[in-house]
Amino acid sequence: MKRRILSGMRPTGPLHLGHLHGVLKNWSRLQDEYECFYFIADWHALTTEYEDPSKISEFSKELFLEWLSVGLSPEKCIMFLQSEVKEHAELYLLFGMFVPVPWLERNPTYKDMLQNLKHKDLATYGFLGYPVLQAADILIYRAEKVPVGLDQVPHLELTREIARRFNYLYRTDLFPEPEPLLSEVPKIPGTDGRKMSKSYGNAIFLNDSPEEVRKKVLSYVTDTQRPRKSDPGDPENRCVAFNLIKLYFSSEELQEIVEDCKGAKLGCFECKRRLAERVIAQLEPIWEKREKLEKEPWQDYLREGISKAREVARETMSAAEKAIFGKKIV
Ligand code: TRP
Repeated sequence: MKRRILSGMRPTGPLHLGHLHGVLKNWSRLQDEYECFYFIADWHALTTEYEDPSKISEFSKELFLEWLSVGLSPEKCIMFLQSEVKEHAELYLLFGMFVPVPWLERNPTYKDMLQNLKHKDLATYGFLGYPVLQAADILIYRAEKVPVGLDQVPHLELTREIARRFNYLYRTDLFPEPEPLLSEVPKIPGTDGRKMSKSYGNAIFLNDSPEEVRKKVLSYVTDTQRPRKSDPGDPENRCVAFNLIKLYFSSEELQEIVEDCKGAKLGCFECKRRLAERVIAQLEPIWEKREKLEKEPWQDYLREGISKAREVARETMSAAEKAIFGKKIV
């Protein structure tokens, strides 16, 4: 029996290279080793986008198509849309009865986001309850591991506390206490050297055209203390594109690049030109698959995922109800 993992993504915009290297490659790798549940967290997107939810469904569709394009396979993992599996909401409601409000108020992600998203009114019940919904997402499948980034670790801690409290209150061992599955996440710089992010406007998107990719890669800030090719560079310490370059060249190639940069033989323009071709070569099969998908019954893949997810979720939900209410009266 394979161990079960679960993870989700909020459909709030197009995917970029940061998602590809930081999340999706990892998810693809895990497909063979674990029983994987991956879902589009559209209700979670709604907690911050409730004033203008018009793009959520388009982003959800795009997200699913990109997942398939990068190699997540409906034969290997269960991919679904959160809002189509109502049991998430049902379990969330039950958890809401016994989760103390102070657990939620001291959640660091909550405090951070309130600060960072000042332009949005997030003093809502739904936003405070976000981690309870996340706990329901995970526990409704009784997942043991959750591949996530460091920022999600407090949510996982809360999920364990909720599982423990449920099991204690209703004298059951229904819920496991899931652990985060942290992986080595490479730093992906955007064109300006800051972390790649849609909101910084520095991202290379998976659905950019080859021309856009080329243009963006060439616009990377490199070593600002090296205005001319004849100046020796210091890629490891001063080039902001270097963390990206490292991902696209073999160690031998990298060694040569570093030597030629330090030796003032390789200019930044030429270096970025080579990088752009590598990025394009990596994206090409993804673009091809994406195009093929238009003619494939991808909606059936999603429907199948939803129905498999429902089956498991239904089972957990019955057990949870039984633990709380005992035998049904009708
Ligand atoms: N909160 C996660 C994020 O912002 C998304 C998410 C929702 C999730 N439910 C989840 C991740 C359950 C893992 C498991 O990225």
